[in-house]
Amino acid sequence: MEPAPPSTARAWSAGGRDLPRHVAIIMDGNGRWASRRALPREMGHREGVKSMREIIRESGRLGIEALTLYAFSTENWSRPRDEVGALMSLMLDCFRGEIDELNRVGVRVRVIGDVSGLPDAHRAEIASATARTARNTGLKLNLALNYGGRDELVRAARSLARDCAAGIISPGDIDEPALAARLDTAGLPDVDLLLRTSGESRLSNFLPFQSAYAELVIVDALWPDFTIDEYHKALDEYFKRDRRFGGRNHPARPG
Ligand code: IPE
Ligand code: IPE
Ligand code: MG
Repeated sequence: MEPAPPSTARAWSAGGRDLPRHVAIIMDGNGRWASRRALPREMGHREGVKSMREIIRESGRLGIEALTLYAFSTENWSRPRDEVGALMSLMLDCFRGEIDELNRVGVRVRVIGDVSGLPDAHRAEIASATARTARNTGLKLNLALNYGGRDELVRAARSLARDCAAGIISPGDIDEPALAARLDTAGLPDVDLLLRTSGESRLSNFLPFQSAYAELVIVDALWPDFTIDEYHKALDEYFKRDRRFGGRNHPARPG
């Protein structure tokens, strides 16, 4: 990883504030960014990759444990063929062009979502990126590709049902940790901060189980305009929140 965290991270930790362990981002607004410039939507998606690069780097520098980025939803297949095609080829370009650098800075790359629904070439790149970076100890980066929260829950339910039918577990063994362990995010902490760009206040099928107690921060900036400075502001907003988890005797917020 890059050595020194920036001054903002030092200030936050000096204030005794814990960084969110898991940040999840709905990277929205690429199309609007392009249409405001009378450009094809694909250009907005290409520009969005630059923000991804910056935010991944910054998350690693700050020492955030896990970052999950929503890049393609199970519902995004319903977009026009041209746009889906452009997104798919951009995905491949990203895997081919970015993994060396991510590996160099110690990022561990994984994909969440139904990988079986992606083309063979994508699956090969995902398998290679996952294997190459598996032992890295820096940021845990999860790219949500062909991801839908309902689809993930259905796949987890099937997996539990199969083990019940095979007599490996009984229905009484199914509790929240058992279900969490069958999700694509198994082993990761729950989402602390759920961030969405471009001003929309909805989840769009992103991490419904894992975000049950996430703090939601909606920013107006379109994803290609989302800078490190905007990211810091969103983190500042997160630090102002009083997280209670349904209890009353929550510890006083530090700082
Ligand atoms: C987000 O940008 C990227 C994906 C969903 C793949 P959009 O393409 O949704 O951009 P808007 O919301 O139309 O502006
Ligand atoms: C959510 O954005 C999906 C991704 C960012 C990949 P959408 O643009 O697809 O969501 P809706 O359609 O506005 O809910
Ligand atoms: Mg959108």
